Amino acid sequence: MCGIIGYTGTNAVPYLIKGLEMLEYRGYDSAGIAVTAKGAIQCVKREGRVSRLRKAVDALPFSSTGIAHTRWATHGKPDETNAHPHISKSGIFAVVHNGIIENFSVLRTQLEKEGYAFTSQTDTEVIAHLLEKNYSGSVTDAMRETLPLLEGSYALGILCSEYPENIYFAVRSSPLTASVTPDGAFISSDPSVLTSYTKKAYRLKSGDFGRITKTAVEIFSADGKRVKRDEAELSESDINAEKGEFPHYMLKEIYEQPEAVLNTCRAYIRSGEVFFNSFPFDKKSIKKISRLYLVGCGSAYHAALTGKYVFELLTDIPCEAAFASEFRYSPPPLDSSTPVILISQSGETADTIAALRLAKEKSAHTLSVLNVRGCTMESESDCCFFTLAGKETAVATTKAYSAQLSLIYLLALHMGKLTGKLNGSEYGIILESVMSLPDRIRSATGVLDAQMRNLAKSIKDAGNVFFIGRGTDYPAAMEAALKLKEVSYIKSDAVAAGELKHGSISLIEKDTPVIALCCGGKTFFKTLSNVREVISRGARVICVTDSSHKKECSAFGEVITVPVSHPVTAPSLEIIPMQLLSYYTALLKGCDIDKPRNLAKSVTVE
Ligand code: G6P
Repeated sequence: MCGIIGYTGTNAVPYLIKGLEMLEYRGYDSAGIAVTAKGAIQCVKREGRVSRLRKAVDALPFSSTGIAHTRWATHGKPDETNAHPHISKSGIFAVVHNGIIENFSVLRTQLEKEGYAFTSQTDTEVIAHLLEKNYSGSVTDAMRETLPLLEGSYALGILCSEYPENIYFAVRSSPLTASVTPDGAFISSDPSVLTSYTKKAYRLKSGDFGRITKTAVEIFSADGKRVKRDEAELSESDINAEKGEFPHYMLKEIYEQPEAVLNTCRAYIRSGEVFFNSFPFDKKSIKKISRLYLVGCGSAYHAALTGKYVFELLTDIPCEAAFASEFRYSPPPLDSSTPVILISQSGETADTIAALRLAKEKSAHTLSVLNVRGCTMESESDCCFFTLAGKETAVATTKAYSAQLSLIYLLALHMGKLTGKLNGSEYGIILESVMSLPDRIRSATGVLDAQMRNLAKSIKDAGNVFFIGRGTDYPAAMEAALKLKEVSYIKSDAVAAGELKHGSISLIEKDTPVIALCCGGKTFFKTLSNVREVISRGARVICVTDSSHKKECSAFGEVITVPVSHPVTAPSLEIIPMQLLSYYTALLKGCDIDKPRNLAKSVTVE
């Protein structure tokens, strides 16, 4: 969360504003910019979106050098006072920060005793004052004194009025990229900001600090020694996509799902078989796995939970899915016999990174399913598999989630074959079903778009919407509920269909919408029993099923029909109309679809 950018070159403000607009997905509570001019630092901040800041930057003098920030509030209200950059006591330093300083209150109390007055409630302001306190002419020396005092995570951009053409930076467990380009030199939380100017950038490592000038990037490692890092090629997933003919990124990305799934499958299927380069297990070592853990946050957790069902079915290995935020503090017993699959679009989610580190500490083998190349999790995992969804911009994930599901099916198939649980014909049938997903997703999207647009009209005023399902329909119901609530702000809950009668059914009243996901094969009739129970209590039921079960479902009310698929791959199809429904409901309600309130795409704080 929070995006930072620094620029030194020709005319800083337009570059910084453009960069902030690209970083806004990381948080949009406030935005601010600071530049050096005539031996001083000048700063402008605004509560809310970058568009508000853009209108205010005319007040800034011309400058070649500046830093900027877009905020997702962690410490202090999302107002102008707490907006970054934060300035030191005498105005000599300005700091932008992504991360959390966990010991800030101890540091603040100490600084206050020493006469430093604070103007904000943020954790970041302590850094500005500490730099000033430790400064005696060399900014890098001040950083050497200051950084070890900070506990927590940070990517920092720092301006010092005495070195008006330098940008200083420091990184610990938060992403930061640096590059000298023909347009000027940059630091940025996200390399996609740099793709308009360069094809290569330094991805800084945890512990690195240093400075950029117009012509050079100077990096020191945590022990203070000057280091040379290799510049990494910026990849497809870094390249910023335009919205094109679509009104929102979310709709565009929903429509890009066939391609995202196709590209992901193509990368791992050769001559009709799943193929992973240097897979960490073979027929012998896979027998030593006692339990498999799948870990993620948000939608990635829903992909993990789908994985639990699919892996157990295809491999017979006991599996557990866990929220990364729970896993890291209440870990299960882990050792070399319990591999952990970590799922993350960004590869920068703080809780998932912490879960990865914990698993490694306990000697568990770590396998990560990632979408962004060069992310922190890539550098720390034992083994990585990449989805090829391309750059995802909307905060609510759609195509990256679909790509994660398809990669999970492929991993489960491969492991099912290694364990011997899957015979050749089952393997072939399921693989065929995965390979046909792109076409089926395309057909479902095209056919169901108008129906979902229509259905949204009657959902938009609902106070509460329930999604129910069993087996793999259950994580699909969770993902559907998450999509609807995050973009349309309608209270929506997912309930395992069999659990309804143990509590949630008390909330069913006349016309309460209940969307029943029933594509999962063997539990179809069980879910229909639960549908009957809510109908008896007056619910308005909408069934999502495939064409082979359409008739049975029609008896209960509206039906959303997706193409027939093997039960293993059904979650990939039933989620399509749910994404469209969420999108159109949010559209009718006038919500900010690509940037829902209070959310951020990349959650780099715990
Ligand atoms: C945020 C996003 C979600 C995403 C989750 C995990 O909450 O809004 O769409 O599923 O983070 O992100 P990751 O990058 O780890 O998949």
